[in-house]
Amino acid sequence: MAKIIDGKAISAQIKEELKEKVSALKADGMEVTLAVIQVGKDAASSVYVGNKKKACAYIGIRSLAYELEEDTSQEDLLALIEELNGREDVNGILVQLPLPGHIDEDKVIQAISPRKDVDGFHPQSVGALCIGQPGFVSCTPAGIIQLLKRSGIEIGGKECVVIGRSNIVGKPMALLLLRENGTVTVTHSRTKDLREVTKRADILIVAVGKPKMITKDYIKEGAVVIDVGIHRNEENKLCGDVDYEDVFPVCSAITPVPGGVGPMTIAMLMNNCVESVER
Ligand code: GUN
Repeated sequence: MAKIIDGKAISAQIKEELKEKVSALKADGMEVTLAVIQVGKDAASSVYVGNKKKACAYIGIRSLAYELEEDTSQEDLLALIEELNGREDVNGILVQLPLPGHIDEDKVIQAISPRKDVDGFHPQSVGALCIGQPGFVSCTPAGIIQLLKRSGIEIGGKECVVIGRSNIVGKPMALLLLRENGTVTVTHSRTKDLREVTKRADILIVAVGKPKMITKDYIKEGAVVIDVGIHRNEENKLCGDVDYEDVFPVCSAITPVPGGVGPMTIAMLMNNCVESVER
């Protein structure tokens, strides 16, 4: 019988731990402050930003909301980031992506001070992760490591396969698994015979972006399966990149969608905000 990895419960536990840390910092006269910038009114982004603000309020982190017009110039956005970089009372800066087409996302990410880069997207943060130096780590892959560790799943020496090579999930995920002494393979759209590779995995991380693509044919008996995808199916129900019902009988542990990886991303963002003060 497969174990269901409960991301909701694990993220709640992390948030409780952070709440205590934040009140201890407060008792020492230190406040944690996150600045959240949204440009335009993309509906999905508004939901994400709202959830981030709610999590801040719950944990005791002060959040500053900057809701900028869709037609805000890149120059004005960069000037705001520069101002926030210089403010001693701001510990973390998050610019919600995607940005409107006239703004260069790479330029914006690079403008955020690496000391305040709580998303872990700055090239310096990614480089630090690559060479094992301290720095902020992208929240979704950091959350997946916590899911594995807090579920008692050993990573060291295991065959770990990552499907997807995005800058936000696939690449940092591979680096983190390597840091935990996993043997790591990264697969992507050009991988030949994907099933042959995924069938070797003791731990399979799926960030492919296609609803229910991964069926039991891709899974080794007893593997741990982590599903990063989130989609709405024909019946308007949420589903992941993994065909959960099909895979469940053959794996040893699996994350559900919703309630698996999703809640961990915000918990790890909160963790990065607290770390930005502790450092
Ligand atoms: N858009 C979707 N996910 C994210 C995220 O983790 N951080 C930011 N800044 N934007 C996003």
